[in-house]
Amino acid sequence: MTIIVTGGAGFIGGNFIHYMLKKHPDYRIVCLDCLTYAGNMDTLAPVMDNPNFRFCKVDITDRAEVYKVFMEEKPDMVVNFAAESHVDRSIEEPAVFLQTNILGTSVMMDACRRYGIKRYHQVSTDEVYGDLPLDRPDLFFTEETPIHTSSPYSASKASADLLVLAYHRTFGLPVSISRCSNNYGPYHFPEKLIPLMIANALNDKPLPVYGKGENVRDWLYVEDHCKAIDLIIHNGREGEVYNVGGHNEMKNIDIVKLIIKELGKSEDLIQFVADRRGHDLRYAIDPTKIHNELGWEPETKFADGIKKTIKWYLDNREWWEKIISGEYKDYYKRMYNAR
Ligand code: NAD
Ligand code: DAU
Repeated sequence: MTIIVTGGAGFIGGNFIHYMLKKHPDYRIVCLDCLTYAGNMDTLAPVMDNPNFRFCKVDITDRAEVYKVFMEEKPDMVVNFAAESHVDRSIEEPAVFLQTNILGTSVMMDACRRYGIKRYHQVSTDEVYGDLPLDRPDLFFTEETPIHTSSPYSASKASADLLVLAYHRTFGLPVSISRCSNNYGPYHFPEKLIPLMIANALNDKPLPVYGKGENVRDWLYVEDHCKAIDLIIHNGREGEVYNVGGHNEMKNIDIVKLIIKELGKSEDLIQFVADRRGHDLRYAIDPTKIHNELGWEPETKFADGIKKTIKWYLDNREWWEKIISGEYKDYYKRMYNAR
C-alpha cells in the first residue's frame, strides 16, 4: 500500500505520517509538501531515515510535478492535508487560499483520475458549516448541516469540498471527506491559539485574547483525528462525508486560563484585543455517523491532552523557538502590534 500524504510537513499531516508509519509499518508513505511558512522539516526529522518514507518538495498546484510523483509512485490512496490553514492570514490575504485550497485540490484529483486510485481523501474542517449561536447549546453540526462559510479560509475549504463531491458524481472518483473540529497537540504552529498562548506565557509575553474570549471551539487531540482518517480511508464509504469531533467545547478564555494555571503564570498576562473580523461564535460537531459506522470515538480526554501538549512544548523548545525567532516575528508584529 502506497499513500501520498500532502501537507505532511505541517501540524496534522506530520502527526498523521508519524501515526501511519507506526500503525502500518509495511505501508509506503510519500509526503508532498512545498514547505510554506507552515511547513517544517524538523517535524519530519524522526521519520526521514525510515525506508518506507519519501519526502518530495512539491507544490500541489504544480500539475507537472504532481503527475511526475504519481507516475513514479503509483499510489493506492491520497490523503490531502495541504492547505493554507490560518483564518487570520486568510483575512489578510485571501488569494493564496484559493490557489492552494481549491486549485491544489483539483490538481490532486486530476492526478488521481489520470493514474487511477483506490481512495482520494480530503481533510476538511467544521468551519465549512459556519458557526452556531452561543445561547443554543442543543445545536450541533451534522453532515446534513448546510454549508455556510464566514472567512476566506472556510469559503476556500467549502469550495474544495464541493469540488471533491463533484468529482465523485461526475467522474466516479472514489472520494471521502472528513470535517474535523479544532485540533491540538505536538507540532502545532505557534500562530494558532493553544501553541501561541503556551509560547507567549513561557516567555512572559501578553496573551492576546480576541474580543471577550467567549467564542467556543470543540477541541480534539490530534492523534484522535489521525485515527479517524485511518478508519475512513480503509473502512469509510465512498462519496461520504464524516464529521470528526470530540464533544469537548470550551471558551477561548477558559483555555487561556488553564494554560496559565498549568504553567504557574499570572492571569495579568491576559490582554483583550480587537476581535477577529467575521469571528465565528461557536463550533460543535455531532460525531454520531463516524461513531456508528466506523466505531470511532475520541480517546484522549482534554485534561490529559492539554497536559501532554504543554509538556511537549516544554520538552521541544528548540522546535518552536526556531519558528518564533524567524519571519514569524514580522507576522506577529503585523497581526498584533496595532490590535
Ligand atoms: P498547517 O498550516 O500546519 O500545515 C499545512 C501544510 O501544508 C504545511 O506543511 C505547508 O507547507 C503545506 N502546504 C501549504 N500549501 C501547499 C501547497 N500549495 N503545496 C504543498 N504543500 C502545501 O495546517 P494543519 O493545521 O496541519 O491543517 C492540515 C489540514 O487540516 C488543512 O487542510 C486544514 O484545513 C485541515 N484542518 C485543520 C484543523 C486544525 O485544527 N488545525 C482542523 C480541521 C481541519
Ligand atoms: O475548526 C477547525 C479549524 O480550527 C481549522 O479548520 C483551522 O485550520 C484551524 O486554524 C482552527 O481555526 P480557528 O480559527 O478556530 O483556530 P485559531 O487557533 O486561529 O483560533 C481559535 C480561537 O482562538 C478563535 O476563536 C480565535 C481565538 N484566538 C486565536 C488567536 C490566534 C484568540 O483569541 N487569540 C489569538 O491570538
